[in-house]
Amino acid sequence: MAHFVQNGYGPFVRQKGMRKMEEDRLIQPELENEGEERLENSLRPKTLEEYIGQDKIKENMKIYIEAAKKRGEALDHVLLYGPPGLGKTTLSNIISNEMNANIKITSGPAIEKPGDLAALLTNLSEFDVLFIDEIHRLSKSVEEILYPALEDYTLDIIIGKGPSARSIRLDLPKFTLIGATTKAGSLTTPLRDRFGIVHRLELYSEEDLTKIVKRSSRILDVNIEEAAAVEIARRSRGTPRIANRLLKRVRDYAAVLGDGEIQLNITKHALNKLEIDELGLDEIDRKLLETMIVQYGGKPVGIEALAATIGEEVDTIEDVYEPYLIQIGFVARTLRGRMVLPPAYQHMGYTYLE
Ligand code: ADE
Repeated sequence: MAHFVQNGYGPFVRQKGMRKMEEDRLIQPELENEGEERLENSLRPKTLEEYIGQDKIKENMKIYIEAAKKRGEALDHVLLYGPPGLGKTTLSNIISNEMNANIKITSGPAIEKPGDLAALLTNLSEFDVLFIDEIHRLSKSVEEILYPALEDYTLDIIIGKGPSARSIRLDLPKFTLIGATTKAGSLTTPLRDRFGIVHRLELYSEEDLTKIVKRSSRILDVNIEEAAAVEIARRSRGTPRIANRLLKRVRDYAAVLGDGEIQLNITKHALNKLEIDELGLDEIDRKLLETMIVQYGGKPVGIEALAATIGEEVDTIEDVYEPYLIQIGFVARTLRGRMVLPPAYQHMGYTYLE
């Protein structure tokens, strides 16, 4: 059997540097460090009832969970996809909680060998949830072990080598796999087809983010003005993780410059100091828009050329920057490449000429 690290959660969850990303970028949707992971855990809703936003997913999951429980079966395998920071892990924790089951959390790159996955699977109990983040990064040999496990809850293990090698089949407990990815398109078809439930997480509305900021403030035991909560929500790029991070920074300003209450003027001051503009755009977003307007003259530009010009990776632009810029109508994806749209000109202080 392959060597693997076994702790309560199986092979380690999150590896640093899995994606090229500026560590101190305030609006990066990835978790920054362990401290932030702890903060996020304390703010995480534990039930579907508490979970704000993603109404369609909530409604559907509620039915599926109740039906599975009524039948006394494991929940069908679930695929969650969408930009980082929208609550894929949170939802998975909630699902396991609502199923009264345990969750084991790991990630595609952390499962290096088939033996790592075999160890995870054989340690599950009936109805447990196995959460695999970045599931599109599973290796082929690991993915192949997963197919019969998902389909028939069996595990084929080869023992020995050469002519004396034999295969034994183990029965697995009936479990639920929750796969999460920012890139549903990168999943192989056989893997994608084995998920009975597939949901795309959407960027959050300003209204839902405001509710999340107010809820987090209550948990952190800090008073916040309604208008300040709206301001933080407006600058959080539709992403709860960013909203909670900005809230934490603004709370510091309120503690030092004010009496601790988060008021609108302190919030605006703090966010301006942090160089997050009124729409939540930071320096890199602005560089991207400026490049499209000035260097490419507003004409369609290929994603590779754009990435090379601003010195970012294609994946980072596609997963992190672009979804929000598209949502606010600043950028469009066209057959001929990415196009910068008139509202972006105005925001960046340029005149749009037809
Ligand atoms: N904190 C982070 N995401 C949340 C959500 N969707 N609902 C409530 N609180 C949250």
